[in-house]
Amino acid sequence: MAEPQALGAIGPSALARIMAGIRDRNLTQEAGPVNQTPDEDEPGHPRYHHRARAAFALSRWNTAVPHRYANATTTHPDIQAWADRAAANIHDAGFLVINGAIGTGKTHQAYGALRRIAATGPHRFEMIAVTAPDMYGRLRPGGSDKGSEHELKQYARIQLLLLDDIGTEKLSEFTEEATYRIVNARYNSGLPLIITTNLLVRDPAGSRASDLVGRLGDRLASRLAQAAHVVTLDGPDLRRQDAS
Ligand SMILES: Nc1ncnc2c1ncn2[C@@H]1O[C@H](COP(=O)(O)OP(=O)(O)OP(=O)(O)O)[C@@H](O)[C@H]1O
Ligand SMILES: [Mg+2]
Repeated sequence: MAEPQALGAIGPSALARIMAGIRDRNLTQEAGPVNQTPDEDEPGHPRYHHRARAAFALSRWNTAVPHRYANATTTHPDIQAWADRAAANIHDAGFLVINGAIGTGKTHQAYGALRRIAATGPHRFEMIAVTAPDMYGRLRPGGSDKGSEHELKQYARIQLLLLDDIGTEKLSEFTEEATYRIVNARYNSGLPLIITTNLLVRDPAGSRASDLVGRLGDRLASRLAQAAHVVTLDGPDLRRQDAS
C-alpha cells in the first residue's frame, strides 16, 4: 500500500508547476512603497499610542472614583502645576495640602489633580483615594481582610495617595502612629501625597483641634514644612450655591 502523503506537503514537481503558473499569468509583483511615517491618528505614531494609553487610564479612572468626582477637573493653577510635576516625575512633586472651609471644592480639586495625572497614561495610575476615617478604619485590627500591616504598606508605597478630609477622624495614639508611619514612609521614598483638610495649616491661636500641624505632631510638621505645597481655597460653600 502507498504511503499516505502528509497533508500540505508539496513535492518538487508540484512546486515547479505552481511557479510556472505564476510566471505564465504574470503574477509577480514588485513590493510597493511602505508608508514609514504614520499620521498622528494612525498606529505607529507615538502620539497615537500615547492617546490610547491615556484613554485606557481614564477608563479605569472612571470606574474607580466616586461618581460625584468622576469628571472633576482642577482649575487652580497651583494644583495644575503640582499635578504636571507629578506626572512628569512622581518624585518631583512633594506633598500637596489643600485646605479651606466646608464645601469650597477641596475634594473636587484633589480628584481633578489625580485625573490630570491619570490622563498622562497608565504608568501613573497606581493611586488610592480614601477619606481619613475610612483609612483608619481599614488599618484597625479586623478592619480589612488582608490585615492592617498589608493595608499600611499599601498606603505607604502606592504611587499616588489622596488622603481626603484629614481632621475629621477621632484623634488617638493609634491614628497618630498610623499617620506618622504612612507620611514618614512617603516622605523618605519621595512619593507624593495629597491631603485635604478643613483645618488651618497653622492656627494663629495655637489650638490643636483646628491646626493641622499641631494635630499631626512636630515630627510630621517638620516634614510637611519641607515637602508640602499648601493651597488654600477661600471661596463660598459650593453646595449651598448648588441649592440656590
Ligand atoms: N470646580 C467645580 N466645578 C463643578 N462643581 C464643583 C467644583 N468644585 C466643587 N464642586 C462641587 O461642589 C460641591 C462641594 O465640593 P467638594 O466636595 O469638593 O468640597 P470640599 O471642600 O471637599 O467640602 P468638605 O469640606 O465638606 O469636604 C460638590 O458637590 C462638588 O461636586
Ligand atoms: Mg471634601
